[in-house]
Amino acid sequence: MDPEHDLRDIRTWKRWFKTPAGKRCLAIVAIVAVLLGYIAWYKGFRVVPQPARITDDPAMRFKYGSLGSEEDYGIPYYVWLVLPRVFPDLLPGPGGYASFGFPWEPGEETPVGFSKKTMGFPRITNNCALCHTSMVRTEEDAERMFIATGPNHTARLQAYIRFISKASKDPRFNADEILAEIEPVVELDVIDKLLYRYLIIPITRDRLTARDADFDWMNLPGWTEWGPGRDDPMNLTKYFMTEMPVDDTIGNADFPSVWNLGIRQDHSMNWAGETESSRAVIIDSALELGMPPTAANVSLAEDIDAWLQQVPPPPYPDDPDTRDAYDIDAALAARGRPIYEAECASCHEAGGTYYGKVVVIDEIGTDRERLDTWSQAAADAANAKVASFGITRKDMVFRDGYVAQPLDGVWLRAPYLHNGAVPNLRALLRPEANRPADFYRGFDVYDPVNVGFMSSCADANARLKDGCAELKRVGTLFDTRRRGNGKGGHAYGTDLGAAEVDALIEYLKTL
Ligand code: HEC
Ligand code: HEC
Repeated sequence: MDPEHDLRDIRTWKRWFKTPAGKRCLAIVAIVAVLLGYIAWYKGFRVVPQPARITDDPAMRFKYGSLGSEEDYGIPYYVWLVLPRVFPDLLPGPGGYASFGFPWEPGEETPVGFSKKTMGFPRITNNCALCHTSMVRTEEDAERMFIATGPNHTARLQAYIRFISKASKDPRFNADEILAEIEPVVELDVIDKLLYRYLIIPITRDRLTARDADFDWMNLPGWTEWGPGRDDPMNLTKYFMTEMPVDDTIGNADFPSVWNLGIRQDHSMNWAGETESSRAVIIDSALELGMPPTAANVSLAEDIDAWLQQVPPPPYPDDPDTRDAYDIDAALAARGRPIYEAECASCHEAGGTYYGKVVVIDEIGTDRERLDTWSQAAADAANAKVASFGITRKDMVFRDGYVAQPLDGVWLRAPYLHNGAVPNLRALLRPEANRPADFYRGFDVYDPVNVGFMSSCADANARLKDGCAELKRVGTLFDTRRRGNGKGGHAYGTDLGAAEVDALIEYLKTL
């Protein structure tokens, strides 16, 4: 290297840039830089609002609307779309993403709970409806109903997380294999192809594998599977929102219904009463889903709260034009009402002593594992975290029991109790020893006799074309002997006679 020589070179170049040709060249470079910048912005970051059919209708927005988490949590839509085609062997069964039990409305591009929004390129994120929308059929050949704000009892979220994780670590997750599936689906221009090949696909793979370790705790030996319709909500909060160290608690809990929150404004919220306001639960949930903590987004969460406050619970599917197993016997229900008032109203009806309050664990006696996942230290850490974002919301607390909630729309809230360990209302009204020790969860055909979802081979053999084989194919066996899955407690109404139980169940259908 000759430094003198280098210097001479630079001087020559500098002179050349002052010539007309040099100036032209500089102008071209500047134009190209601006163009490249524009293309980078356009292809990578330009935010396109979701279509009005989603943003203008609150139920559609709940099911498919974005919470603004595209930048940090988004998965490129086309990559996401083709993963089931690239990795069919990693799916639990045929049917693509529907095999995870995600409700998927006919004609929609994504299952409920998945938002597609373009930020440069279309990206998939998740929203509240992932866990808070129900899918139900009255019979095998009846049309599916999709009930936004209902508990999602079918979604196997843990299996989905594991699928994405396994796929991201698989050698087939490479630009060649993924583009080979994307190209028949959508026409990409040259720039898109380059972007997908050299940036989007490799970056997606790296981000997904990096996120993977965050879920190690749920793969520890002995951990009880979430199964359909559940996750481990307070541990998710502890490990993701507050980054507390992993402990050995397991708190698997059902996705609850979130309709009609207006009647619960002065109630304890969450299964174990950790929160005392729907606004606080909703803001925290949205933050956990990756919503950036801006004032505009807090007001989006408040809009969701306002909407949820006035969504009515869905009526029991008794069609007045047909006579079938879904007809409510009004006279029988009327006989059930005084039984409800005597046995249940003190906890489940407005004006009752415990209504909307926490019933201590020694009294309620249901499985305590979910309760034990939380603590005052966790509440303090979560409160500090949310405060650090400059967000004011009612503090989380720690309580020693489970909440006696209103029973509105209770027919669709099966399986019952916080851990979903009791398949139907009839089983709940039996002593612990006579409740099923195991049963199938996650099947969407309803059981109008026992009032819950179809959960037994006997019912499946009587009502399904393929009998129990179909129930086993779609459902997941739930074992109440596993940790956190206990079916005991809540012994109310378990000493009623058979006729009283029938009447009470008939009445509960009307709530
Ligand atoms: C990954 C699943 C999941 C997502 C996504 C989710 N939730 Fe939930 N949600 C739950 C679970 C599980 C609980 C029950 C937590 C507990 O107490 O154990 C819950 C509780 C709630 C409650 C309290 C209900 C009650 O009965 O006290 C409300 C309200 C709620 N969620 C609203 C929302 C909203 C609004 C969003 C979106 C911003 C959202 N959730 C996103 C799983 C989810
Ligand atoms: C002393 C208060 C109390 C009484 C009395 C009571 N319950 Fe409950 N109930 C609770 C509590 C607390 C829970 C939540 C328990 C849990 O999830 O672990 C609950 C949960 C339930 C659930 C499950 C709700 C869901 O979404 O999964 C149903 C159904 C229910 N009760 C019905 C009844 C009926 C019917 C009666 C009367 C025969 C009754 N309860 C009497 C306190 C009570």
